[in-house]
Amino acid sequence: MEVKIAASILNADINKLEEEIKSVSASADWIHVDIMDNHFVPNLGFGLNVLDSLSKKKVRPLDAHLMIENPDKWAPQYVEAGADSVTFHYEAAKDSARLIKELHAMKSRVGLAIKPKTPLSDVKEFLNDIDVLLVMTVEPGFGGQSFMDDMLDKVRQARSIINSEKLKLWVQVDGGIGYKTIKDSARAGADFLVVGSAAFSAADPSFAMKELRELAMKGAKS
Ligand code: DX5
Ligand code: ZN
Repeated sequence: MEVKIAASILNADINKLEEEIKSVSASADWIHVDIMDNHFVPNLGFGLNVLDSLSKKKVRPLDAHLMIENPDKWAPQYVEAGADSVTFHYEAAKDSARLIKELHAMKSRVGLAIKPKTPLSDVKEFLNDIDVLLVMTVEPGFGGQSFMDDMLDKVRQARSIINSEKLKLWVQVDGGIGYKTIKDSARAGADFLVVGSAAFSAADPSFAMKELRELAMKGAKS
């Protein structure tokens, strides 16, 4: 299983965002941008303008994680703004099937995210149609929270369905991924790991990302 690592810039230092992104650009496969509307989650975060500006600066590939109400209306605009992959929350969407189709028609990769309390069975019917299943490993909204160990079971279930049905999607985990949790996440079957504060709070983010990737690769092989 090939492992992909995304650097989440939510907890990067916004005063020097460009520098922060440069510090991980060689060691991250994707740049993960958290979009928050203070309705779906109790926090306000980046929006369309940030995505657009990163895209214009040729920051690539961009993984937009939409923690917003009404993604049916907003998600396509993130593709237009330059996101290479757009992930929306199943709990927030009015019609996930329709939105998946619309985003694919715009040539975007499409991810479907589920909060910790949402069972995998709720989204099983979509697994054949998406590129990424995002299993949240914290309650969405803030960086720096503790990883919820009991989410590993959901990751295992997803991996087992994907393997037995020979599906192609990636399993992403987001929240509390760091030195203590990345290996177990990969061992459970996650192959797309979002790293936020574990990278940006490190003295050398690039070095931290490399160490984390090695740990993830070990987990994926064990
Ligand atoms: C949380 C966000 C995450 C966050 C992860 O709701 O979706 O992407 O930035 O940050 P850490 O890795 O610090 O948990
Ligand atoms: Zn995220």
